[in-house]
Amino acid sequence: KVIVIDFGGQYNQLVARRVRECNVYCEIYSYKTDIAQIKAMNPKGIILTGGPNSCYEADSPTCSKELFELGVPVLGLCYGAQLMMHVLGGKVEKAPVREYGKTEVMVDTSSPLFTGVSENTICWMSHFDYISKAAPGFNIVAHTADCPVAAAENQEKGLFAIQFHPEVLHTQEGTKMLHNFVRGICGCEGTWRMDSFVENTVKEIREKVGNGKVLLALSGGVDSSVAAGLLSRAIGKQLTCVFVDHGLLRKNEGDEVEEVFGPNGQFDLNFIRVNAQDRYYGKLAGVTEPEHKRKIIGEEFIRVFEEEAKKIGAVDFLAQGTIYPDVVESGLGGESAVIKSHHNVGGLPDFVDFKEIIEPLRNLFKDEVRKAGLELGIPEKLVFRQPFPGPGLGIRIIGEVNAEKVKIVQDADAIYREEVDKAVEEYTKANGKAPSWMPNQYFAALTNMRSVGVMGDERTYDYAVALRAVNTVDFMTAESAEIPFEVLQRVMSRIINEVKGVNRVMYDLTSKPPGTIEFE
Ligand code: XMP
Repeated sequence: KVIVIDFGGQYNQLVARRVRECNVYCEIYSYKTDIAQIKAMNPKGIILTGGPNSCYEADSPTCSKELFELGVPVLGLCYGAQLMMHVLGGKVEKAPVREYGKTEVMVDTSSPLFTGVSENTICWMSHFDYISKAAPGFNIVAHTADCPVAAAENQEKGLFAIQFHPEVLHTQEGTKMLHNFVRGICGCEGTWRMDSFVENTVKEIREKVGNGKVLLALSGGVDSSVAAGLLSRAIGKQLTCVFVDHGLLRKNEGDEVEEVFGPNGQFDLNFIRVNAQDRYYGKLAGVTEPEHKRKIIGEEFIRVFEEEAKKIGAVDFLAQGTIYPDVVESGLGGESAVIKSHHNVGGLPDFVDFKEIIEPLRNLFKDEVRKAGLELGIPEKLVFRQPFPGPGLGIRIIGEVNAEKVKIVQDADAIYREEVDKAVEEYTKANGKAPSWMPNQYFAALTNMRSVGVMGDERTYDYAVALRAVNTVDFMTAESAEIPFEVLQRVMSRIINEVKGVNRVMYDLTSKPPGTIEFE
């Protein structure tokens, strides 16, 4: 495997993903990781990521000189490149001209890093410091108009430094460069594939679990579904999945989950569906404060799951659908996000009687989880499901939640999703690519507002439905998606005609910030 050493750069996970796209397995570690530990992992290559600091300042993240003497190829990117030069005796200082954005880079194509790359190639630059002098023993193999050392190499020692970001897609031939490093220079064979992942993981699960019992809370989301598929293939009926239908799922979603994982589905496992709708509606009656609602929904889930777990009795393993970004974001893997703690990591339920936790997707990125899901035969509809929050429709109904409101928002949302999906499909068929407005998340919400309308000859006094659709990369910031007006009009007219209790449809234009994606 290849090790990615994280110096806090915003693209650290992207570096790892790109490496895996070369069919090479890699993991992210913090720059604080002990050199002995790195050595013990016996990596085939090491990549140092970018970071926000200046390497010549006293308390900046650094690395031991020994890292460059392991006999393992090392590639430094941006901050990583500067650090490599700094540690090995080159000079890094504040750049007279700060480079940011797409930049033309002149490269020496005789360098193994740039094999097959054009001599003038567009790369993504983002730096305020620059390498003014390469370290002794290094040749300069790329430059730009403003940057004398855009890349340097010491081929004999297998050390390479790149000032720009090959992991960002704006670097037009970046993938080729990373491929050259991991497959060429490091000599990785490129055997990391999802079919081998599924096969190997099934084997590992069997060895670990033996004839023990495993319990999994299945939400119907991508991660827990793929975890269920993997475990089922490995251990069949030794796996019990508990699926809690809290009555706040999208239209027909409970039945769809049951179709795939229930007794008539394709997977061999024990499936327990708990229909807890009435319990939830009972607890939520009269509650209007958003945080209070979220708290009730969360706590009730624990209670319901606890009751089921008690019925099952002691299990050997509790399985969770934790994925790699959850691990990194919890500060366990990389550097950047000691900031956030993740609900999937750490907070283990203490009411379930189990010996050990099992997390079969712990090393996968989301797109890899999806590939594994397809490999396992989980339907595409489920594998490519858009994100859906744990509290479900509970945070898409403003104010009090009750069965009637749930039904309204379910029906309106189903129409909206159907029409948007149809429009996306038609556009894609006609143009050979998805539309630029294709939202990353889109749903209907029920406002708590009623207003006067007229239908036929009658006055109505009904609810307003809000349509939300956003374009976003990371869900931290988002723009409202420009869904074509005729699509929105079709949705509006269908909702008004088909959903009882609604007489007005609005489109939410708010970006995040200041809005959030959900409504509560
Ligand atoms: P907001 O509303 O914070 O949403 O802009 C950002 C993303 O997170 C999802 N979300 C949640 N997911 N439990 C979840 O599992 C939650 O409580 C929750 N709240 C928001 C939301 O759907 C969006 O993708």
